[in-house]
Amino acid sequence: MSKIPVGILGATGMVGQNYISLLDGHPWFEVKYVAASARSAGKKYGDVMTGRWHLRKNCPSSVNDIIVEDANDITRAAQSAKQGNLAFVFSALEMEKNEILALESGYAAAGIPVVSNASANRWTDDVPMLIAEVNPDHADIIPAQQKSRGWNKGFIAVKPNCSIQSYMTPFWALIQAGYEIKRAVVSTMQAVSGAGYPGVPSLDIIDNVVPYIGGEEEKSELEPLKIFGKIENGKFNKASSPVISAHCNRVPVINGHTVTVSMEFSDKKPSVEQIKKIWTDFRALPQKLNLPMAPVQPIIVRDEPNRPQPGMDRDIDKGMAVTVGRIRPCNVFDIRFVGLSHNTVRGAAGGGILNAELLKSKGYL
Ligand SMILES: NC(=O)c1ccc[n+]([C@@H]2O[C@H](COP(=O)([O-])OP(=O)(O)OC[C@H]3O[C@@H](n4cnc5c(N)ncnc54)[C@H](OP(=O)(O)O)[C@@H]3O)[C@@H](O)[C@H]2O)c1
Repeated sequence: MSKIPVGILGATGMVGQNYISLLDGHPWFEVKYVAASARSAGKKYGDVMTGRWHLRKNCPSSVNDIIVEDANDITRAAQSAKQGNLAFVFSALEMEKNEILALESGYAAAGIPVVSNASANRWTDDVPMLIAEVNPDHADIIPAQQKSRGWNKGFIAVKPNCSIQSYMTPFWALIQAGYEIKRAVVSTMQAVSGAGYPGVPSLDIIDNVVPYIGGEEEKSELEPLKIFGKIENGKFNKASSPVISAHCNRVPVINGHTVTVSMEFSDKKPSVEQIKKIWTDFRALPQKLNLPMAPVQPIIVRDEPNRPQPGMDRDIDKGMAVTVGRIRPCNVFDIRFVGLSHNTVRGAAGGGILNAELLKSKGYL
């Protein structure tokens, strides 16, 4: 099977580099088109990235000679698509919200589907916000989206914020097992790579914790309600629970967002042992479809009292599994635990690739 040619908008950024690295050798997708700002456009990717590549694994040589395009030049992307060199794009742009809204719609209108990491379209009524293990059925709003916008082949699908990945799959596994989570308090300890590059100044974060990340608490509280919601009349009807109170902190860790969670259930309350079994046994559509980027076991339960830790657990199963531990009774709510997920992999590029694999399996790409 010949591979599907894909593009990366924002290919020079922190998330873009993770896309380049994770797509190297991907069995279905091949990077053929890279785009960034006008500052980077017109030069070879390898030249632009000299001194700017931040991953431990080297930049794959297959992309070195690709000329970086201007992500604002949709006509150029449409030409590539027409020539069969571009089937869809991953969007990892960092720009003003209105600029990203206009660009992502522009690509979709030009017949180029957009699988996005940016937050701009997360609350757009007809745009699915996908975690492949949790709400794969939300992708089925795409035909209604295309119809109402008059788009033929193009569409927009997004992934949620990186801060929520470490508790969404655990919450969903419990909800699926019949336990309604009424409310939860979540405290995140978020890695510096979540702020892109150069991100948080070193003098602000070394030997320090910053107890504020603009917009993250609202995203951590509200995005779960769209993801747990249902499609009704071509729009998402939000779930009403769990009600979440979030505290988001930036900590001096390079990769891996950790979260501590206290949760309260409605009438039916699982025991610690039941929770461990539900989480260990949880499998979802990506595992059933054997999607290449899917973790074999989406939730890894650790029994040691001092795990999970970002330095030890973030890379497990390609950086795509969520690791949980310290599952114990809570004196205020019912149960508390610690969760961990890799923010630039599961929470960004890896999650985007898994969403694209899901969309391909469902016939939308
Ligand atoms: N980092 C994470 O963990 C994470 C997790 C989830 C979601 N996200 C989201 O993913 C997106 C990218 O984040 P990041 O951390 O990778 O940011 P970043 O490192 O700052 O990279 C930003 C990218 O956008 C490009 N860009 C900036 N201004 C542009 C313009 N005017 N026109 C066209 N391209 C422009 C940059 O190109 P140049 O190099 O040419 O400037 C670069 O490729 C953001 O929307 C972010 O919210 C990030």
